[in-house]
Amino acid sequence: MRIYIADDYEQMSVKAALIVAGQITMKADSILGLCTGSTPIGMYKELVKMHRQQGLDFSQVITFNLDEYWGLSPENDQSYHYFMHENFFNHVNVKPNNIHIPNGLAEDINDECKRYEEAIRQANGLDLQVLGIGRNGHIGFNEPATEFIGETHLVELDTDTINANARFFASRAEVPTQAITMGIKTIMQAKKILLLANGEGKAQAIKEAVTGEVNPSVPASILQLHPDCTFLVDKAAAKYL
Ligand code: PGA
Repeated sequence: MRIYIADDYEQMSVKAALIVAGQITMKADSILGLCTGSTPIGMYKELVKMHRQQGLDFSQVITFNLDEYWGLSPENDQSYHYFMHENFFNHVNVKPNNIHIPNGLAEDINDECKRYEEAIRQANGLDLQVLGIGRNGHIGFNEPATEFIGETHLVELDTDTINANARFFASRAEVPTQAITMGIKTIMQAKKILLLANGEGKAQAIKEAVTGEVNPSVPASILQLHPDCTFLVDKAAAKYL
């Protein structure tokens, strides 16, 4: 595991965008695993800038998002579908057919999880997965648990996650309690992983993920076993390292 400590959020975001751009330069038809949340917004802004100013080309890139709230339509402004279009896809030249996000309104959840998993397999897996981390150590919506769950599945969100995400909703009661998430095996099979974290609120989770034992009670700790994983965090998130 490589750990890079950036001075601040801006430096973290620029470096993250450079790593993603480097991946696309190396392989124009890269398969990218993408995340949502407040952490990657700066990275997406930088990537949009690189597209506009330097012609960074996403025309062959294929994307798979990590997760989606269960029960939210793509048009709902709190859905991750909406987030990704607002913050990224609407501003770059990723082809709509190359964008994959779990369907939060699928009628059959098991079919949807299988379909998503199969689509990733058909694409030959992820070249680079970008991750955030929850204050409880979650990656995607793989919440602290007694076992690691391998493949894409429906998950009950942790109280901590619901509380943390309530800031994006009009009220806590509106935060969905379930989500579809890529599983730990799906994430770990990515060829490269880039985890981003900023702010002191993430410092404890980063410490446990990097220096604690590999344990499903801190899902991100499994990244210690990945052969090509970079933690790119700002000074505040690195406080306890
Ligand atoms: P955040 O969420 O970027 O909004 O802090 C990250 C996560 O929960 O994975």
